[in-house]
Amino acid sequence: MGLIIALNKGRIFKECLPLLAACDIAPDEDPDASRKLIFETRTGGHQIIIARSADVPTYVEHGVADIGITGKDTILEYGGAMGFYEMLDLGIGKCRMMTAGPVGVPEPAGVLRVATKFINITKDYYRQQGRQVSLIKLSGAMEIAPLLNLSDTIVDIVDTGNTLVANGLEARATICDISTRLIVNRASMKTKFDEVNGLISQLESVVAS
Ligand code: PRP
Repeated sequence: MGLIIALNKGRIFKECLPLLAACDIAPDEDPDASRKLIFETRTGGHQIIIARSADVPTYVEHGVADIGITGKDTILEYGGAMGFYEMLDLGIGKCRMMTAGPVGVPEPAGVLRVATKFINITKDYYRQQGRQVSLIKLSGAMEIAPLLNLSDTIVDIVDTGNTLVANGLEARATICDISTRLIVNRASMKTKFDEVNGLISQLESVVAS
């Protein structure tokens, strides 16, 4: 039985294709040369769905994809899903979820204005810190917010740190480490047990090597 695999568009998709190819799962045409969003695979009768990151857990939770590959940030932000299991750390897409603010400017006392697209992660973090915050939801390019005095702080993903530096910001606290994870729909774990576990074992070997 073929598997339906949902992958994040963009960097995760590009980094995952070689891992899947090493497990004999490859799209039947070049995704870079096509606007298609669902690809059949050359062998094995699988399907690969190219999704927006935030939608990968949704597809897997609803069972329209058996497997999803996405960042830990996306999984955490999606919240306490009951419909899937996180099964494997693929060891790619490593970065950190951090707070950051303007270089040399201390955080103000009182209510902190925090801009982010990771509302749930941010709420949880400041709740644990016991800090009262006013959250400002953005869709990306959070680094702009302190420059425009829309917020005091941002919560965002930091990889090289170059984006922060380029915008006069400095990293402050690390909220959590992020990497790319494989998630499996709960029902598929039973109905496609052999296929799912076969792929996880293969990927484990590929990642280990
Ligand atoms: C992420 C993140 C930062 C940047 C950090 O954005 O939001 O802007 O990467 O990387 P760096 O520390 O290596 O500079 P991404 O390019 O993934 O796009 P996004 O804003 O759409 O999330």
